[in-house]
Amino acid sequence: MDRLRERLTEAGQSHLLQFWNELSPEDQAEMSKDLDGMNFKEINGFFKSAMETSCQTKQEKVDSRMEPVPREVLGSVTRDRESLKDWEKEGLRCIAQNKVAVLLLAGGQGTRLGVSYPKGMYDVGLPSHKTLFQIQAERILKLQQLAEQQHNAKCCIPWYIMTSGRTMESTKEYFSKHNYFGLSQDDVVFFQQGMLPAMDYSGKIILESKGKLSMAPDGNGGLYRALGTQKIIVDMERRGISCIHVYCVDNILVKVADPAFVGFCALKGADCGAKVVEKTNPTEAVGVVCKVDGRYQVVEYSEITLATAERRSADGRLMFNAGNVANHFFSLTFLRDIVNIHEPQLQHHVAQKKIPYVDTQGQLIKPDKPNGIKMEKFVFDIFQFAKTFVVYEVLREDEFSPLKNADSQDGKDNPTTARHALMSLHHRWVLNAGGHFIDENGTRVPAIPSLKDGTDLPIKCEISPLVSYGGEGLEGLVKGREFRPTLVIDKHGLHELVKNGL
Ligand code: UTP
Repeated sequence: MDRLRERLTEAGQSHLLQFWNELSPEDQAEMSKDLDGMNFKEINGFFKSAMETSCQTKQEKVDSRMEPVPREVLGSVTRDRESLKDWEKEGLRCIAQNKVAVLLLAGGQGTRLGVSYPKGMYDVGLPSHKTLFQIQAERILKLQQLAEQQHNAKCCIPWYIMTSGRTMESTKEYFSKHNYFGLSQDDVVFFQQGMLPAMDYSGKIILESKGKLSMAPDGNGGLYRALGTQKIIVDMERRGISCIHVYCVDNILVKVADPAFVGFCALKGADCGAKVVEKTNPTEAVGVVCKVDGRYQVVEYSEITLATAERRSADGRLMFNAGNVANHFFSLTFLRDIVNIHEPQLQHHVAQKKIPYVDTQGQLIKPDKPNGIKMEKFVFDIFQFAKTFVVYEVLREDEFSPLKNADSQDGKDNPTTARHALMSLHHRWVLNAGGHFIDENGTRVPAIPSLKDGTDLPIKCEISPLVSYGGEGLEGLVKGREFRPTLVIDKHGLHELVKNGL
């Protein structure tokens, strides 16, 4: 105990023991275990450099140093349609050779959504009531099947799932309870990212209760440290993986291990690739991928002036329009170098937050304005180290609809918008495969739904990923047929759920 007290005094964190004598022996043991495991010198160092960098970036706009993504490193699903098939073929070939892994970032706390369980377990209210985890698992299963069919060989896409101290146990339990959704248990690998304490503006660690520090995951860029400490790179090497697709848990439309994206990056010999969606509104608060001082990075909206955000190219599009969606390709060689060489050079970013704390009387206070910081690294912080960087532009309506917030009227990025985005995509799949929808009077519903009674609801239609990964293979089921919503297509066939009004 004396040694601990000494370490805390040296680190300027002795206030953490202010309620020590009031704690039960069990709570004392718990707290002392937590504190023993912490490197205060390192944490104080992180705080100092994160605050310094944050002050610098606040003052400085990067406009004059920015260049847009050059056309030669860009692949686009709309502008390069003639190449899409070749990219997809190459991606499926890599998958069939067991070279592709997917890595899911699922260590966030989902504070805005406000549920107590991991976000991947959220049901947005689809007819099937599948959760985000289940949808992603089934997309992996289907893609394995497509690669196997094309190449006549059994294959597997290992799924690495990064969780945090708060989400690990419930995530594992959930997968086990659902039998890994049909995937092989050995090919679903859970690992845990690091946690860091929340601190007040003077660098003192915040107590969330008398015997507990306020801890938070160290950002989705905590991935790179975890890949080393949790021996994930070694596991990937053992399996012969060479391409890794990294994505976020909250995007309901995510094309997990997207073969066209993987194939595009592989054919370009890229070590690092970013999937982007076109930013069309200058004031949309999305980070853009661009070059700064000749190196790739994501520039946040707050780091540039409005004039730069509004600049347009000769084709009329915004000049800085590569909207980052945290969906990336990495070669294993690149990731290995990041983990072994570059990770320690990455600075934490500062996020000001309202952090509940106990005051000197031991009362729990929930502040109504930010009172401290959390320190986070970002998954895209490593773009600067890429030797061959590529950008792949996709359609937002086909591939990006994140679940961030709880439902509210006119809200954005919430369960309703996610559910609608998926059903609207699946509606278009049916139309493109030659199917039609009719209303309760038997009249064909126009392909573009009209505003009716002030509502703009999509046709209710859900297609299981086990039936189609990206709209393929539906003609045999729907061509020339008429359906009444709700239409569900799953591995058992077609169902029209009219009566129960789903
Ligand atoms: P967000 O930054 O949107 O955070 O994460 P969040 O936790 O989902 O939600 P809020 O901000 O608390 O409301 C984007 C992605 O990065 C992952 C999340 O799980 C999500 O897939 N993430 C975030 C991590 O894996 N670790 C982190 O420390 C933070």
